[in-house]
Amino acid sequence: MERTLVIIKPDALQRNLLGEIIHRFERKGLKLIALKMASISDEKVVEHYAHHVEKPFFPKLKSFMQSAPVVMLILEGLEAINAVRLIAGQTKSREADAGTIRGDFAMSMQANIVHASDSVENAAAEVARFFTPEEIFEYKKMDFEWVYAEDERV
Ligand code: CMP
Repeated sequence: MERTLVIIKPDALQRNLLGEIIHRFERKGLKLIALKMASISDEKVVEHYAHHVEKPFFPKLKSFMQSAPVVMLILEGLEAINAVRLIAGQTKSREADAGTIRGDFAMSMQANIVHASDSVENAAAEVARFFTPEEIFEYKKMDFEWVYAEDERV
């Protein structure tokens, strides 16, 4: 099963959307294996958005991400990285499909409610960036056999 990192951004917290967002991932059948609230340090913002550091929007993105705490989760599931990105919707929120988190709750490119890992490699790096092994939980989820068919339970 894949693991993916979701960061619920400051705009979601300010707009009282935290429960709604977590609820959507829960209802989908994704397994929550880690959860915490934190302020993102200068070092971690730069590391996390290393591919955007040279872009003109980076200073504003950095200050937005540090304007309030974020809530970070690790979700586990079959092809979870893609499944979570489909639920999040595309980066430019005002063009995101209705039914997605961004499509339903946001209009902005920057204030787009959530970040979600975009590849297996990035998911592994992002999980390790924000969580220690002790903060990640392994447990049996009682609905597992109802969420997945037998040949999908890997
Ligand atoms: P995220 O999925 O966290 O990945 C990079 C983030 O940078 C993105 O969501 C947006 O919050 C932000 N972003 C990407 N492109 C732009 C842009 N053109 N202007 C402002 N912010 C952007």
